[in-house]
Amino acid sequence: MKSSSLEIWEEMARKPVGGYKEGLDSEKKFLIENLSEDEKVLDIGSGFGRVLEVLSPKVKEIIGIDNDEEAVKESVKLNENNKKVKVLLMDAENLEFSDGEFGIVTCLGGTPSNFGKTRNKIYSEIKRVLKKKGLFFCSVYNEDALKDRVNYYEKYYSGKYTLNKETGYVEVKDKFVSEQFSQDQMKNILNENGFEVLKTIKAGVLNIFLSRSK
Ligand SMILES: C[S@@+](CC[C@H](N)C(=O)[O-])C[C@H]1O[C@@H](n2cnc3c(N)ncnc32)[C@H](O)[C@@H]1O
Repeated sequence: MKSSSLEIWEEMARKPVGGYKEGLDSEKKFLIENLSEDEKVLDIGSGFGRVLEVLSPKVKEIIGIDNDEEAVKESVKLNENNKKVKVLLMDAENLEFSDGEFGIVTCLGGTPSNFGKTRNKIYSEIKRVLKKKGLFFCSVYNEDALKDRVNYYEKYYSGKYTLNKETGYVEVKDKFVSEQFSQDQMKNILNENGFEVLKTIKAGVLNIFLSRSK
């Protein structure tokens, strides 16, 4: 049985089922359709490197960051022969990059659902490292994701999580929190943090957004 959050996410995301499959497949398609290829990209919460794998053949350069040491070790190893990819141990709350360094920032697989109370600090860091009018791709669990999410938590974290059924707020103690957002809730959050939403789709468990730094 898988034990770390990374191993659990990797096992699920390599062979997703149900709403997770529909969400992750649509996210990939959305990303590729809307990508500008000549940009330097930052992937926040890169995990085992799923998005790095999809994007590296298509962009100039891509840097992944994650605050999980195990995730960084694994994806550094997976990408050791790929000169376009760099992976660094870093917290999204304090991005060690210059202002305006990236043309595109991605934060996918529902990662912003895990930001909890620190989310505004993270969005302000994302805005800082993006060029003016730079693109931000992100996805969160949507308002109909609870059934699939509960199946996932029951399978891997049974007896170890708390759930608020009304809001969909989940906490796996000492590991992560997870929330879900409607398109309107997320549009407001992005707006308040200096992003203009250009496109959004709902697919499987996810709401997926392309926005631009204002
Ligand atoms: C749900 S996984 C998604 C991984 C990857 N983006 C994907 O789509 O497969 C979320 C990842 O975000 C990372 N993460 C969460 N909060 C973070 C933070 N504040 N700074 C950096 N990484 C973070 C976690 O360690 C985890 O690897």
